[in-house]
Amino acid sequence: MKLIVVDDYEAVSRAGADVIASIIGRKPHSAIVIATGDTPMGIYEQLAARNARGDVDASRILAFQLDEYLGVPPGDRRSLYGWMERSFLAPLDIPDANVVRLPWDEGLAEEGCAAYVRAVEAVGGFDLAVLGLGPNGHLGFNEPPSGPGSRTRLVDLTNESIESNADYWGGPDVVPRRAVTAGMDLLLAARQILLVVSGEHKQDILRRTLDGPVTPDVPSSYLQQAGGVIVLADRAASPSVG
Ligand code: F6R
Repeated sequence: MKLIVVDDYEAVSRAGADVIASIIGRKPHSAIVIATGDTPMGIYEQLAARNARGDVDASRILAFQLDEYLGVPPGDRRSLYGWMERSFLAPLDIPDANVVRLPWDEGLAEEGCAAYVRAVEAVGGFDLAVLGLGPNGHLGFNEPPSGPGSRTRLVDLTNESIESNADYWGGPDVVPRRAVTAGMDLLLAARQILLVVSGEHKQDILRRTLDGPVTPDVPSSYLQQAGGVIVLADRAASPSVG
C-alpha cells in the first residue's frame, strides 16, 4: 500500500486525476469502477477539464457503477447512477454502451447483481477501483461487518451511513435503508485501487484503515492486504502528518 499525502483537496484532485489519466493512457479500454460521494468530485472535474482540452480521452473506458440505493430509479437525481452520470459519464463523453449498472429495483436485484458480476468477470476484473472512505470504513456500501469475500449484493445501511448521507437526501428519515454494492471480493481484486480521502473528519478512520487491525468491522482495513493500492490523502486527513 502506498500512502501519498498532499497539501489539500485541490492537490488530491490533481494527483487523483493524474493516476486515472495515466491508467487510461496505458489502456484506453480500462474497466474502472467509479465512486460517487463528495471526495472524488474534484478529480472528476479535473478529468473533465482535461477531456475538454483534448488532453485525456476517457470515452473508451468501461465504467462500472460502485453502488446504488435500492428503490431509487436511475432518472431520480438522488440515485447514485444519476450522480455518476452528471459528474463522470457525461463530462467524459462515455456512451451508455460502455456503462455497467447495478440494479436498483428490489425485485430484480439478485439477478442484476449476478449480471454485474458476470460483466466484471468477462473483462477479467477491474483495472482500477476509484474509492472513497466511509466514516465507518465502508468501501462502496460494504458496510461493517464486511469481510474480503463479501459478494456483490443487497445490504442494509448502517445508522452511521444513513446519518452521513442525510444532507444529500434532506434528512435522515428520507435516506433509503437498503442499497446494492459491488462486493469486497471484486474491489480488492482490482489491479489498481485508488482510495481518496480528504478532511480532518476522516483522520481517525484513515488511521484505522492504514494501521489498525484487519477486521470486517473496518472493511477498508483489508486494503492493507490488497495489491496495487494507492491511498491519496490531504494533510487534514492524514494521521501521520495531520
Ligand atoms: C459512494 C460510495 C461511498 C463513499 C464514502 C465516502 O459511491 O460508495 O462509499 O465513497 O461514503 O463518501 P465521501 O467522499 O462523500 O466522504
